[in-house]
Amino acid sequence: MQRAPNLPYAARRARLAAQLGADALAIVPTAPQQQRNRDSDFPYRPDSYFYYLTGFTEPDAWLLLDGSGRSTLFCQPRDPDLETWTGYRLGPDAAPDALGVDAAHAVDELDGLLPQLLANRAAVWFPFATHDGLQLQVEDWLQAVRAQARSGVLAPDAQRDLCALLDEMRLVKDAHELAIMRRAGRISARAHVRAMQRSARMLRAGETAREYHLEAELLHEFRQSGAQFPAYTSIVAAGANACVLHYPAGDALLRDGELVLIDAACELDGYASDITRTFPAGGRFTDAQRTLYELVLEAQKQAVAATRAGARFDDPHDAAVRVLTQGMLDLGLLDSNRVGSVDEAVAQRAYARFYMHRTSHWMGMDVHDCGSYVEPSERDQITEQRDPLSGKQVQKRPSRILQPGMVLTIEPGIYVRPTEGVPEEFWNIGIRIEDDAVVTPDGCELLTRDVPVAPDEIEALMRA
Ligand code: GLY
Ligand code: MN
Ligand code: MN
Repeated sequence: MQRAPNLPYAARRARLAAQLGADALAIVPTAPQQQRNRDSDFPYRPDSYFYYLTGFTEPDAWLLLDGSGRSTLFCQPRDPDLETWTGYRLGPDAAPDALGVDAAHAVDELDGLLPQLLANRAAVWFPFATHDGLQLQVEDWLQAVRAQARSGVLAPDAQRDLCALLDEMRLVKDAHELAIMRRAGRISARAHVRAMQRSARMLRAGETAREYHLEAELLHEFRQSGAQFPAYTSIVAAGANACVLHYPAGDALLRDGELVLIDAACELDGYASDITRTFPAGGRFTDAQRTLYELVLEAQKQAVAATRAGARFDDPHDAAVRVLTQGMLDLGLLDSNRVGSVDEAVAQRAYARFYMHRTSHWMGMDVHDCGSYVEPSERDQITEQRDPLSGKQVQKRPSRILQPGMVLTIEPGIYVRPTEGVPEEFWNIGIRIEDDAVVTPDGCELLTRDVPVAPDEIEALMRA
């Protein structure tokens, strides 16, 4: 068999190895299987770093990579009896050809072999942030190496955080990743279309429609299209529930005249998508809903226009905040007699009463993906500021300069709880519009526009 044909993992391992240092060893465990309750596990999902470097989806596996580029996999051994219960295993004999690693061993040999593999190395790298107990385990292995000191064996005297290297690599997506993310975006968009149409159909037919009916449509489309999981817990929020940012789909009634906010998307082959749409349950926006919707849509448009290589991560957020704050002043959500001009309202973060989250986060294998939000070359440029809302002193560093291949969400919103002094027609309306954007040299590519955002197009879709 040919070794790991046309897959990106060996190239990623080589890029990582080149950054480790000649005498270093990196240790990357996959995720543990998680029990849900007695005799029942959560569906298994590998660790993102491990999968990024191997494409291997079995639990109980480790990748070791040294500075010369040599890779060793530890994985579950073949066991016909156990495989009858828990499924097929690749096993160490087949792993080199299937995965392109240089060597493979059964995972029960890990403790015995690791002290040998660590001997006479200068540094050991492992992820500091993602695996409980890993540091103690590495310490145990290092102790076993130190125990050989009198035989002249040297133990690594540096422990380094592998997340720092892998987060930077994962932040800029390669062609293989972008192809998967485009497919994930299309599947998730179809799921939103399906949910919108089901909502309109049920209300037109006079049926009792609840949030979970729409969640069922989403899950159906994800799985029907081959996506393995929802990328995060689906939010399907009818009416006032949309003002709760992390509201999970429940059993609330969908009512004609109210909005539904759906923030839901699939994970496909290890990559997340992330879409929010807000639409009228019965298919027609009221005037007040449309007014606020168009404001959020304009904020999103300006944020999209601010997203391009060379811009800062904060630029889309700043653009959205400015549009939203101006709109809040125009519509009487904010009182200019109290908060002043748009500049003053932005500086005081007066908009945060109605827009309390950020406009973007990185996207990738994890829906809130890894990668520094601070520009690494400017991390020492610190300014101290007083946060106007909390009154606390905060340190600010220049935000990340966007590069082609970075993927971020653009998700402005507005959430109006019943509040004295705010026009009542806007009470209990929560709106968010969220798309996934790949940064390109002169703009961005939106991955999730197979479901419309324009209110007329949403209404037309829901009439269809
Ligand atoms: N769905 C999670 C988020 O939008 O950040
Ligand atoms: Mn998001
Ligand atoms: Mn979302």
